[in-house]
Amino acid sequence: KTIYVLNGPNLNLLGKRQPEIYGHETLEDVERLCAAACPDSHTIRLLQSNHEGQIIDWIHEAREAACGIVINPAAYTHTSVAILDALNTFEGPVIEVHISQVHKREAFRHHSYVSKRADGVIAGLGIEGYVAGVRRVVQLTA
Ligand code: DQA
Repeated sequence: KTIYVLNGPNLNLLGKRQPEIYGHETLEDVERLCAAACPDSHTIRLLQSNHEGQIIDWIHEAREAACGIVINPAAYTHTSVAILDALNTFEGPVIEVHISQVHKREAFRHHSYVSKRADGVIAGLGIEGYVAGVRRVVQLTA
C-alpha cells in the first residue's frame, strides 16, 4: 500500500526558508523519517509542487494509487476550494499537516479549506507532524 505525502508551495525550500518558523530540516529529512515510520506493508511517495493544478492531479492519481494521503497544502490550505474538492473525491484517510502552529500566527492562517475534509489535523509539531500523519494512515489502512 502506498501513502502519498503531498506538499504545497514553497516547501521545496524547507530548511532554507524562514528556519525560525519552519526549522532547519529539509523535505529529504521528511521523506527519510516518513519512510522509517512505515511498516513493510506500506510505502511512501513524497511529492512537492508550487502549482495548485499539479497537486490536484496528484490527488486524482491517488484515487487509484494510494491508500491514504498526508498533505501539507502550505498557503493553498487557506485559499484552495479546488484542493478541497479534489480531496473530496478521494475515499481513503486524509491527514492535514502544518509544520508551524498556524493558530498562533496571522489570522489568515487560522482558516483551512482542507480541514473540511481532513480526518486529522496536525499543527506545530515541526516535521514530526508528518510522521504522526503517516502513522495514523497506516493504522487506519492496516
Ligand atoms: C504551513 C503553514 C501555512 O500557513 C504556510 O503558508 C506554509 C506552511 C506549515 O507547514 O506550517 O507554507 O502549511
